[in-house]
Amino acid sequence: MEGRILSGMRPTGPLHLGHLFGALDNWVKLQDKYDSFFMIADWHAMMSEYEDPSRLSRFTMECAADWLACGIDPEKSVIFVQSHVKEHLELYMAFSNFVPLGRLERCPTYKEQLREVTTRELHTYAFLGYPVLQAADILIYKADIVPVGKDQVPHIELTNDIGGKFNSLYGKAIFPSVKPLLTSIPKLLGIDGRKMSKSYDNFIALGDSEETIKKKCSGMFTDPERIKLTDKGHPEKCNVYAYYNLLKKDYAPEVYEYCASAKVGCTECKKKLGDIISDYLEGIRHKREALLKDEDKIRAILEKGAAKARKAASETMAEVKKAIGLV
Ligand code: TRP
Ligand code: SF4
Repeated sequence: MEGRILSGMRPTGPLHLGHLFGALDNWVKLQDKYDSFFMIADWHAMMSEYEDPSRLSRFTMECAADWLACGIDPEKSVIFVQSHVKEHLELYMAFSNFVPLGRLERCPTYKEQLREVTTRELHTYAFLGYPVLQAADILIYKADIVPVGKDQVPHIELTNDIGGKFNSLYGKAIFPSVKPLLTSIPKLLGIDGRKMSKSYDNFIALGDSEETIKKKCSGMFTDPERIKLTDKGHPEKCNVYAYYNLLKKDYAPEVYEYCASAKVGCTECKKKLGDIISDYLEGIRHKREALLKDEDKIRAILEKGAAKARKAASETMAEVKKAIGLV
């Protein structure tokens, strides 16, 4: 093994194609090379869903099922739920003592969320501390590498500041520095051409039925300059083409050609894409359905994962308490 990785997702909604191409495909490859920890960050989800957490447990089970269906293997990786390992919160507390308020208030993700999220009240104590808990998630396992999206890089920088500060305050080199690992896959836009997001409801979920996928594809935004069938299209400006490029790369040149020469219309092009996505997700869809019929099996996998995670986390926490001098 080349080192340890840790990553996580918040169970706030269904997983979709963005998660598959932006993270899961990569995690599946990484688990062969690294000692891997994958965490369902339910406490982080609570920071935004605290008013109505009723769907959290369902999303947690579905998230686990999606991961397993996509090929995260519990024999290779530790798959667990954040709230099952209480040491995360202990380390978060230890860090909270010295993290400067201003550093958190200036965090770009914090400022952006406060600006953009209007459906939830996020001016809370916990939400400000979001990246401190994330630092604890990472450092409690002494992860070397954290596979994340670009938006999360400030949180990794903060993690390194926090680990370094702890080491220097208490005179022990407990925490190593961590590196983000960014995926090279270009971001897929939502079916309406906007950023793919749960709040816009513009994604194709891994668990969507064939019928739903086809319906969503038929409503996708296309090249706005191609109005009539005889208008030549600009595939490089079309979101549908971007999906082809990612899902069926060897077929993309053909799409390019028929679009640019106005040989095939958008309706047909989108219909074909619906078939391709539906086929692409078929295996995942069946596996996740089978898993979700047997929730006890998912629970057992998560419990086993939590036991492994707890072992590593409690070792770090013992070192932390000793370094601080808690009796
Ligand atoms: N903040 C991450 C996100 O929104 C989720 C997360 C929580 C995470 N803890 C983590 C990611 C630790 C990597 C490592 O995507
Ligand atoms: Fe987009 Fe296909 Fe229409 Fe071209 S033919 S504009 S690629 S949907």
